[in-house]
Amino acid sequence: MAVAAHSDLADALREVRARTLALVAPLDAAQLARVQHPLMSPLDWDLGHIAAYEDLWIVHRHGGGELLRPDLAHLYDAFETPRAVRGEILFLRGQDVFDYIAAVRERALEVLDHTGPGDGTLFELVTRHEAQHNETMRQTLFLAGLPGGRPAAAPSGVRGAVAADGWIDVPGGSFELGASADGFAFDNERPRHHVDVPGFRIRRRPVTNASWMHFCEGGGYERREWWSDEGWAWKEEYDITHPEGWTADGLPREHAEQPVMHVSWFEADAFARSRGARLPTEAEWEKASTSTQEPLAQAGEVWEWTASHFGGYPGFVAHPYREYSEVFFGERYRVLRGCSWATEARVRTPTFRNWDLPQRRQIFAGVRLAKDVT
Ligand code: AVJ
Ligand code: FE
Repeated sequence: MAVAAHSDLADALREVRARTLALVAPLDAAQLARVQHPLMSPLDWDLGHIAAYEDLWIVHRHGGGELLRPDLAHLYDAFETPRAVRGEILFLRGQDVFDYIAAVRERALEVLDHTGPGDGTLFELVTRHEAQHNETMRQTLFLAGLPGGRPAAAPSGVRGAVAADGWIDVPGGSFELGASADGFAFDNERPRHHVDVPGFRIRRRPVTNASWMHFCEGGGYERREWWSDEGWAWKEEYDITHPEGWTADGLPREHAEQPVMHVSWFEADAFARSRGARLPTEAEWEKASTSTQEPLAQAGEVWEWTASHFGGYPGFVAHPYREYSEVFFGERYRVLRGCSWATEARVRTPTFRNWDLPQRRQIFAGVRLAKDVT
């Protein structure tokens, strides 16, 4: 990639750190150490993990230095220490974790000064990794009902004028999917390649809370014919009757005209069927976002579930490690596209691919409908 200016990389690291610290500033040590939700790590694990990642990729791999705390590498490795056990193990707590992340940051900035940025890739990776963990931490805050877990207010334009809705017709044809060879991108966004996308229709806006209430009232969670077998089994087992985070009365906490959030892929799929529609494929989503004349409305407020499974593009090469993407490829995970209100500017790109299991609802994820052209 093009070499980003040294000072830009340092500024980007500082900027994302300020956001990380602002997220945890209102919380005490006990709130940071608690497992807030069985799906999520304790927030102080995220903090230590962010720093361990920075120490590994910048200080050790890029700078050739020793790890500051080799004894912690294992604990903060997402694969060696899975989420399920992160509440029980001893890692840095209280002031110790803040001292650790600050000490690693000093070492990383020294590497930037003495070794230089190289091609900048690893600095960008580490910055974006922390930005992604910021969003993960906000998911934890959401599930725990703590400050920072919900959008501050309805984005401008939503309370007044309602964003334009309706279908956009996207003509068929070949399209270049994925990130170009220059600039930073995650391994799973490359290589860019031609795909033939038949003509389709996609909705201008994501599905709103108001539409989802209508779906609930119309028996959306009871009409078997709208659900996949797997989705129905999941819904029955967990007695799901509305999106995660709605009130006990089954009402959204956000404005009715805002996009619905915290729905699973199973729910998104059922909603689409109830409308005689379907979820877009990720190629359709990227094509509609990058190459149509018409802007998608309210893009960037919620992640959007797609019909696609997470897989490598033809010619995929893992970089810099297989556990970033490759180990998740296959039929289990579904791709989400776009970004949410909680996504930092640096990781908002039209080629970014997010992924999760179809039953997950902690993500700030909603739905945009698509349809075949008939
Ligand atoms: C791209 C959001 C699915 O959280 O598992 C964080 C990002 N990778 N640390 C995740 C990530 C390593 C990843 N997602
Ligand atoms: Fe991580």
